[in-house]
Amino acid sequence: MARRRQLYEGKAKILFEGPEPGTLVQYFKDDATAGNGAKKGTITGKGVLNNRISEYLMTRLSEIGIPNHFIRRLNMREQLIREVEIIPLEVVVRNVAAGSLATRLGITEGQRLPRSIIEYYYKNDQLNDPMVAEEHITCFGWAATQDLDDMVALTLRVNDFLTGLFLGVGITLVDFKLEFGRLWENEEMRIVLADEISPDNCRLWDAKTGEKMDKDRFRRDLGKVEEGYQEVARRLGILPEAGPRDMTGPEVMQ
Ligand code: TMP
Repeated sequence: MARRRQLYEGKAKILFEGPEPGTLVQYFKDDATAGNGAKKGTITGKGVLNNRISEYLMTRLSEIGIPNHFIRRLNMREQLIREVEIIPLEVVVRNVAAGSLATRLGITEGQRLPRSIIEYYYKNDQLNDPMVAEEHITCFGWAATQDLDDMVALTLRVNDFLTGLFLGVGITLVDFKLEFGRLWENEEMRIVLADEISPDNCRLWDAKTGEKMDKDRFRRDLGKVEEGYQEVARRLGILPEAGPRDMTGPEVMQ
């Protein structure tokens, strides 16, 4: 295999130089961290599953006109993506109270929110990714007001679409995190969805039983972590063993 230049190593992914200018290769690791690196571990097969799940979701989002960095999956653990200038924000959407919202505001986990909430966090490990307001974002120049407007509009569309997609396979989309980047094409800049969408950055609960099928199984030592990720892929009809031509498509739940 040709040697490639590694550009960045994060907690769950590695970015390599891509085969053409303006492209990168995103490699999905099995490493898992929680609490900003305080808890470390490995979830066997997670990288393979997240690569497939993120490919599937980004492709579905492209089909409804949500611009994103995904080009194509290369192999079990790698996908080709467009190189974007990452905006240093995590955009969190919440439909049901859970995690830090439940803890911070003393709201019972599992309570459906009367409307979806969008929160912003500044991506900075040293500062523990603090929550920030729109005023901080524009004041410190992390994103312009127009960029934020674009990000919010895209985020709400992603939330509506993914909520329906997951509900169709018996999963409640409780909350999730998105990241965005700036893509430059002929002097024109577009805000596009970047990073990944997978059980690492979504809370996914069985719609009937409330059973968790996401990284909370790792964060909270609930056991059967691998099984949670596999079940999400299975319900979406994209377990890797099936191979691209054998994909059965989503399993509709009654
Ligand atoms: P939280 O309840 O811990 O704030 O997380 C909200 C959602 O955002 C949850 O689905 C996990 C995701 N998330 C990330 O993907 N990365 C992060 O660094 C944080 C804080 C949350």
